[in-house]
Amino acid sequence: MLKDKRILITGVAGFIGSNLADRCLELGANVIGIDNMFNGSIHNLKNAQQGKDFQLVKGDIRDYSLLLEISKEIEIIYHVGAFTSVPQSIIMPETCNAVNVNGTINILNVARKNDIEKVIFSSSSSVYGDTNKLPLTEDMPRNPISPYGTSKLAGESYMQSFHHIYGLKTIILRYFNVFGPRQKDSPYSGVTAIWIGRIQRNEPLVIFGNGENSRDFTYVKDVVQGNLLAGEKNVSGEIFNIGAGSPISLNNLAALLLRLTNRQDLLIKHTDPRPGDIIHSYADISKAKNQLDFIPQYDQKSGLKEYLSWISKNNDMT
Ligand SMILES: NC(=O)c1ccc[n+]([C@@H]2O[C@H](COP(=O)([O-])OP(=O)(O)OC[C@H]3O[C@@H](n4cnc5c(N)ncnc54)[C@H](O)[C@@H]3O)[C@@H](O)[C@H]2O)c1
Repeated sequence: MLKDKRILITGVAGFIGSNLADRCLELGANVIGIDNMFNGSIHNLKNAQQGKDFQLVKGDIRDYSLLLEISKEIEIIYHVGAFTSVPQSIIMPETCNAVNVNGTINILNVARKNDIEKVIFSSSSSVYGDTNKLPLTEDMPRNPISPYGTSKLAGESYMQSFHHIYGLKTIILRYFNVFGPRQKDSPYSGVTAIWIGRIQRNEPLVIFGNGENSRDFTYVKDVVQGNLLAGEKNVSGEIFNIGAGSPISLNNLAALLLRLTNRQDLLIKHTDPRPGDIIHSYADISKAKNQLDFIPQYDQKSGLKEYLSWISKNNDMT
């Protein structure tokens, strides 16, 4: 289906964007990727840049004229690029808003102007905020508790309104705690990458709070699968949860990771909970199953195993 499709991926040098680009290229698409390198890395594009079907534009999604120019021949936009850190969004809410909200409006405006077939938006489970009612279904109230979550919710609303007002085909994918190859080990990243970094440096794993909070950790290849299905299927104007559909507590995830790396000698330390962190998160993925034929191929254990094996082969890129 993607053979010879002309695709724009925003945030292409990031964790998810680069994995998506690789898969689109494998399937025969022509990919233009844009990234301002705020959190991306050129290393992530090592595979993509080997072929002739990939072009990297170093630029900003806040630059409307640039987006308009590079998307002239594009058929599908995967809008993945974003200001992605919850803690940083608390320090810099204006920048988070400018990138995630104004940047998203730019994408929608160029999609209209250039008659782009479909825009697929990377949203987040953070739009739900904290709730005791689990698993989370797409129609549940959305009460984000961080500037990041708020900006993602605004992005979603713009996606929906451009669909309703202008008939633009948009799809919103709400990802749940993604992990896998190329996730950065930085204080602002997902916990799996941070813990693997700590294991490599022989440091204890740190859990914010008592660790009984649970997350629906989702392997990046399943997120890529969700994006490809959203591009292929004759569906638009919809929101889909994209998760593994099987939650695990942070305590159990830490124990699993120490077991898989054979590092049970390392300690697990608990500190104060972080502001903006959600307590429980668990996706009901039946809508994506029914309408997109989305079936996760990985659980936390198989995803972690593949991720660890990737790390041992590509240590220079972590
Ligand atoms: N990783 C997760 O667990 C997770 C969970 C839910 C949703 N998401 C969403 O998935 C998408 C990708 O996240 P990720 O984990 O790959 O994060 P990431 O930070 O690795 O990737 C985001 C990319 O966007 C780029 N970017 C930032 N500002 C930009 C700008 N102004 N112009 C152009 N590029 C810009 C960054 O440089 C980076 O390469 C984001 O939209 C994020 O909100 C991620």
